[in-house]
Amino acid sequence: METYELEAVERVTTRPPRDFRTLRVRSLTPVVGAEVSGLDLSRELTDEQLGELRQAFLDHHVLVFRDQHITQEDHLRLAGHFGELRPVNPPPPEGDPHILEISTTPEAANVAGNGWHTDGSADAEPSLGSMLYLKRIPEPGSGGDTLFANMHLAYEMLSPALREMLDGLTAIHDGLAAFGSQTPPAGYVAPRSEHPLVVRHPETDRKLLYVNPAYTTRIPQLSEEESRAVLDLLFAVTARRPVLSCRVRWEPDTLVFWDNRCVQHHATYDYYPYTRYGQRIAINGGPLKA
Ligand code: SIN
Repeated sequence: METYELEAVERVTTRPPRDFRTLRVRSLTPVVGAEVSGLDLSRELTDEQLGELRQAFLDHHVLVFRDQHITQEDHLRLAGHFGELRPVNPPPPEGDPHILEISTTPEAANVAGNGWHTDGSADAEPSLGSMLYLKRIPEPGSGGDTLFANMHLAYEMLSPALREMLDGLTAIHDGLAAFGSQTPPAGYVAPRSEHPLVVRHPETDRKLLYVNPAYTTRIPQLSEEESRAVLDLLFAVTARRPVLSCRVRWEPDTLVFWDNRCVQHHATYDYYPYTRYGQRIAINGGPLKA
C-alpha cells in the first residue's frame, strides 16, 4: 500500500478499544463490524444499554447479534429506539408497513441487494440504518453472507489530490437505476436526489465517500463522459479494496444493524437452489451535508 493509504487505515482505526459496562463487543475487522453479546433483544433495553449500543454503532458501523429469539414487535421496538421507522416502498401487500421481507427461494433468478449499494441513498433524507433479522439461512448452512464496506476509509484511502477534487462535487442518486432494465414493482415511487459526493457523518462529523453503483448515476458538475469515468473509478474502490470491508456469516436468529450513512453493503447470492429468509426494518435519517 502507498504511505497515504496506510496512514488512512491508521486514521480510521485509531480509536482506543472501548470498554462497555452492559455489553461485550468483539471487532470483526479493525475498521468495520463487531459482534455484540450480553444483550437479550427480546427484552426492553435500559437507557444505559441503549446508550452503549449507540456508541458501539458509531464506533463499528455494523453490529451483529447472535441467537436472538425476537418477535416482529421486538424488532420494531428495537429499531424505533434509533429513529422513526421508514415505510417500505412500495408498501407490502399485507402486514406491518415497515417490514420488508427478504426472501430468496429456488425460483429466484437473482436477489435484491446482490451488488454494492446503500439502502435509501436516492431519498432526499437517506436512511440512518437498517436492521435485518434472518430466520432461515441457506442449507447446508453456508452462503448468503453479507459484505459491508467502510466508506470513511474508502474516502481516506484516495490520494489527497483526488479527495480535494471530489470535495466540492455532488452526485445524483436515482431510485430507478437499481432496477436496470427491469420494470420496478407496481406502486414503487422512484425517489431521485442530489447529495454531496463527500458528506460528513451527521453524528461523528467524519468525512465519507457517498456514492454507490446501484443508485448513483451522475456528477452534474462534470461532462457525461467525465462523470461516467469518475463514478466508475469510485465504484471500483469498494470492489477492489478488501481492506474496506467485513463479511457477516449468518446463522439463524442473527440480527445485523448497519449504518447506511457510512457503509455500503453487498448481499451475496451464492446459494442457489437454497432458501434464505428474513425481515428488514429501515430507520429514517436526515439530510446529508458536506
Ligand atoms: C439488503 O440489501 O438490504 C439486504 C441485505 C441482505 O440480504 O443480506
